[in-house]
Amino acid sequence: MRSLLFVPGDSQKKLEKAFGAGADVVIVDLEDSIAPQNKALARGTAARFITEHRHQTKSAIYVRVNDLSTGLTDDDLAALVPAGPVGIMLPKSNSGQDVQNLSAKLRVHEAENGLPDGAIKILPIITETAAGVLAAATYANVSARLVGVTWGAEDLSAAIGARAARDENGRYTDVFRFARTMTILAAGAAEVAAIDTIFPHFRDMPAFEAECTEAERDGFTGKMAIHPAQVPVINTAFTPSAEAVKHSASLVAAFEAAGNPGVVGIDGKMYDRPHLRLAERLLARAKAAGIST
Ligand code: COA
Ligand code: MG
Repeated sequence: MRSLLFVPGDSQKKLEKAFGAGADVVIVDLEDSIAPQNKALARGTAARFITEHRHQTKSAIYVRVNDLSTGLTDDDLAALVPAGPVGIMLPKSNSGQDVQNLSAKLRVHEAENGLPDGAIKILPIITETAAGVLAAATYANVSARLVGVTWGAEDLSAAIGARAARDENGRYTDVFRFARTMTILAAGAAEVAAIDTIFPHFRDMPAFEAECTEAERDGFTGKMAIHPAQVPVINTAFTPSAEAVKHSASLVAAFEAAGNPGVVGIDGKMYDRPHLRLAERLLARAKAAGIST
């Protein structure tokens, strides 16, 4: 799950483009990119498109439903679960409890559609409310459906009344850096993927590349996109380099050859268990990206 491309669920033309964009995940949106009066129409368009095309794309299909406070979530699930999405993105999640509530709803829809219990995954956006940011620690062990956590700045701005999320140099201000940090820590605590938020300036590729690089450095394993042109940039940034794979593989091999000790020395440098764990994580990501290790 390196690249996750959003596509408005009411646009047949964009759905076609998104399914061929080479993203690891396509997130078909029923929430903020759909006007309130178009929700029902979007459900129909999205459900039909996914049903007809989900086997023709390599991307895993997720659906972003409307949040649990809207009263729309049940209708979203009733319309979309029959289309066979791999997962549901839950916006404006307030805590792990929201994931459990969604999980209970999914259990019913899975039963109604002859799907195994737990088949559908959940990816919550955990920083879109103030309470959500403060509850980032509550996602550990909530549900086996939880595949990752991600964050968003736009709704948090609205929730706290911040006029901007970034300063004059384009750097996130403290509240938003905190939300971003909490997302990385929440993912670590829950042992799920940490997915970085969108970058809205879809023509500014140098800034986008820099943000991807920074995200990967800090522990995110993927990033959301809003435009097909952002997908290859994300895939490159979040695919471990050949050099990193080689280094990690040799480190794992060195631990093995030494009988799995606590610490080894390679080329005059000390490596202990955290280094081994990092190397194993990197190799797992490389494998998931289709690289032989
Ligand atoms: N998925 C699929 N196709 C997309 C796309 C997306 N997210 N974003 C753009 N495209 C398509 C356009 O329709 C256009 O297709 P065309 O060449 O057949 O006309 C092509 O890619 C080039 O698009 P471009 O002209 O560069 O951008 P735009 O002005 O048409 O679209 C946005 C800009 C922001 C409206 C569009 O990128 C978009 O809808 N993004 C997703 C928004 C979203 O889902 N938000 C919710 C999550 S934050
Ligand atoms: Mg939003």
